[in-house]
Amino acid sequence: MWKPPDKIRWRSEIGKLPNASEIESSLLFSPLDAERLKLRNRTWVPAMVPWRATEEGYVTPEILDWYGRFARGRPAAIVVEATGIRDVPSGPLLRIGHDRFLNGLTELVARVRKESGGTTKLFIQLIDFLSIKRRPPREKFLTRYLEITEQHRQHLNLVGAEELNVRAALMALDGTELQTVLNDREWEALTMGHRERVSDTHFSHVAELPRVLPPLFSSAAQRAEKAGFDGVELHYAHAYTMASFLSATNDRSDGYGGNREARVRLPLEVLQQVRQSVSNRFVVGARFLADEAIDGGSTLDDVCFFAKEFARAGMDFLSLSRGGKFDDAKQPKVGAAAYPYTGRSGYECMPQFISDEIGPFGRNFAATKAIRQAVRKAGFNTPVVGAGGVHSFAMAETALRQGVADIIGAARQSLADPDWFLKLETGHGDQIRLCEYTNYCEGLDQTHKQVTCKLWDRVALDEPNILKSSDGRRRLTAPDWTAE
Ligand SMILES: Cc1cc2nc3c(=O)[nH]c(=O)nc-3n(C[C@H](O)[C@H](O)[C@H](O)COP(=O)(O)O)c2cc1C
Ligand code: SF4
Repeated sequence: MWKPPDKIRWRSEIGKLPNASEIESSLLFSPLDAERLKLRNRTWVPAMVPWRATEEGYVTPEILDWYGRFARGRPAAIVVEATGIRDVPSGPLLRIGHDRFLNGLTELVARVRKESGGTTKLFIQLIDFLSIKRRPPREKFLTRYLEITEQHRQHLNLVGAEELNVRAALMALDGTELQTVLNDREWEALTMGHRERVSDTHFSHVAELPRVLPPLFSSAAQRAEKAGFDGVELHYAHAYTMASFLSATNDRSDGYGGNREARVRLPLEVLQQVRQSVSNRFVVGARFLADEAIDGGSTLDDVCFFAKEFARAGMDFLSLSRGGKFDDAKQPKVGAAAYPYTGRSGYECMPQFISDEIGPFGRNFAATKAIRQAVRKAGFNTPVVGAGGVHSFAMAETALRQGVADIIGAARQSLADPDWFLKLETGHGDQIRLCEYTNYCEGLDQTHKQVTCKLWDRVALDEPNILKSSDGRRRLTAPDWTAE
């Protein structure tokens, strides 16, 4: 992963622990009573893909174990990982694009209800993504994949030549020469792997996205409601289709790209159709980017505009993330696909303990606060979820008091210690296992390995009945905690 040049080392610290009366009077442990979103307190576990579904996208015992373990820590809400809304193969990522996934998802809801004693609300994140190909071997690309055009012939002074001869001429070029002959997208396809963009409207399936996506999202939301979830989180963040519609890099000319009014159009149409297809009590929120953290990305003003439009359209919560784009991803090895969390924007999404002077803790707070203020100023009370490096009561409470957010999301800290909110709430904060923000978990995610935390995955491996990673060397969930 990309690291800031300053390479300043940061340490997570638990800080001052609250006593019983401080817990009692805290915002963090006070209920949230918004229009549809009702939570027993302001604690939230954001979506994290653990790579535990079957190759066909079904719920597995390992998935049940993962969410059951978070639920035992009784956060007010858990968001189930990014779950694919299409009925197409997508590796061991959870899917919700057909009724055959319903049984497993219903079991997942039941498991969370049981393990949390019915206290945790459960949402599922709905995702659509465009195709990305692995980086091809040079020879295969130039001799097979590349479509030979008149431009190539002209560049090579081979007008009228047979395709075979053009390919042979391309093969003979060195890297620098080849880059001058290929256009930017062809060069990207060779050096990074071909990646579709929402602006590739010359492909009919991309041109059709505004017609195709609203029904796909709304069917998925209906299924989520049938399975018993309390709501859905529309994935409008990071490197995926909906975030790409919102992005300032979206230059579609069909009324769904260009200015910010056009860029927000499809996200609003998806919301509208989802809202119409679920019951009135079903929660519909979205996760989107406070900052794309790429050159030429949307401005804070754009994002404030999106947030106000979402609030106006009746979104039940606004969850803000940061970065995580393909635009600045590192070059993958030949045969591997680019990964959107390897560049600077990836760092902004999951900042690590080696950082800059701003540090990894609360890096998204200033933007989140500005967006929340803009929404409030426009007269909307839509709850805002803030996240990024939160690992202590003091940090969470201060953020709530300063108006950064209404709900505090903690992803990696909850992975490091799924009981951490409960430990705080019950006066056992001294027993919290603090996340070190090493991104070992993120490394596993990147290589599509079952995600665990380095602080507990080698502990008590001989414990009976625990699930282990495919190679048998890691436990898959944190050891249970009982108050000392
Ligand atoms: C292993 C892993 C998987 C993740 N998967 C998702 C995901 O499916 N959807 C999403 O919106 N964010 C995902 N994230 C990002 C987190 O939700 C969160 O925004 C990020 O880790 C920063 O918060 P934190 O500092 O509390 O971990 C993932 C993070 C990790 C570490
Ligand atoms: S592996 Fe554990 S300690 Fe390291 S960043 Fe992930 S959750 Fe935190």
